Amino acid sequence: MGSLSKQDQVECRDKAEYADVNWDELGFSLTKTDYMFVMNFNPDQAKFSQGTITPFANIQLCPSSGILNYAQGLFEGLKAYRKADERILLFRPEENAMRMKMGADRMCMPSPTVEQFVDAVKKTVLANKRWVPPHGRGSLYIRPLLMGTGPNLGVKPASEYTFLVYASPVGSYNNGELNLLVEDKVHRATPGGTGGIKAVTNYSPVYKPLTQAKAKGFSDVLFLDALTGSNIEEGSACNIFILKGNVISTPTADGTILPGITRKSIMELASGFGYQVEERAIPIEEVFEAEEVFCTGTAMVVKSVASITYGGKRIEYKTGADTLAEKLHATLTGIQTGVNEDKLGWTMAI
Ligand code: COI
Repeated sequence: MGSLSKQDQVECRDKAEYADVNWDELGFSLTKTDYMFVMNFNPDQAKFSQGTITPFANIQLCPSSGILNYAQGLFEGLKAYRKADERILLFRPEENAMRMKMGADRMCMPSPTVEQFVDAVKKTVLANKRWVPPHGRGSLYIRPLLMGTGPNLGVKPASEYTFLVYASPVGSYNNGELNLLVEDKVHRATPGGTGGIKAVTNYSPVYKPLTQAKAKGFSDVLFLDALTGSNIEEGSACNIFILKGNVISTPTADGTILPGITRKSIMELASGFGYQVEERAIPIEEVFEAEEVFCTGTAMVVKSVASITYGGKRIEYKTGADTLAEKLHATLTGIQTGVNEDKLGWTMAI
């Protein structure tokens, strides 16, 4: 699995060790890197072709492609980190591969096998090695896409698919405080919908409430469930946890919540710290009694929520050095960057 062709290796060796990037200025925006990976689904053989590393570039799509017309598409997000000894670690890439398979099933798309997915991610990272930030100064965010690329005028699954992986060095997703506004009119997900998978359609519909909340000075919205409007679900791009006493709770991932890989990792770490971890419906009122609230996500990592505003009431929470969120953040990033021993086997050296 995962080795570059001789020609790609030669091209990679010829590059400088690090790209010319101001690593300390990185936020969460696209920095174009050298290469991407592309693999097409061959409908005649009913399988994905071998896939190749090609220069990062715009792609051509039929105006009638499934992705452009009917949003038949999924994405993933994972990160590569540089250890102090310069080696590169991926964090739980098989989990992303399995989540993409689950999403592909819901969207009637063929998906790469776990091996094909991980292999493509490795190749993309190795080809773009010089863009993996120095140890402790960011990460390489990897964005796998699965798209219906065959032409479709009628409403039906596409006949052709493309799996593409690109990457960009990133820093923090959100630099300031996390001040959430509870959104009680627009819902992110509905039962039976696609909220539990990484469908491309789950994101742009939140732009309107998010933009409105930002205009009022909030950093994100917190969605409520569509059925009762009384339980918290998640933010625009992150899961949420509340802490009270020795219990950490997060909404159950039963179809309307994205089953985040950071969410899953944090639940495992918190149990290891001796907390009782609960997945359940969390009424908004409970959030007001929480001692701490924090968000998790691949892009966000783990971040304390400074305040939540709902119905004109604003509650502030503890943030900073003494929080559980900070302890979890330090432990998780320590594992991801190879500083802490990886007792759980979550990292993959490439
Ligand atoms: C991630 O955390 O990887 C996400 O998918 C959030 C993204 C939409 C920025």
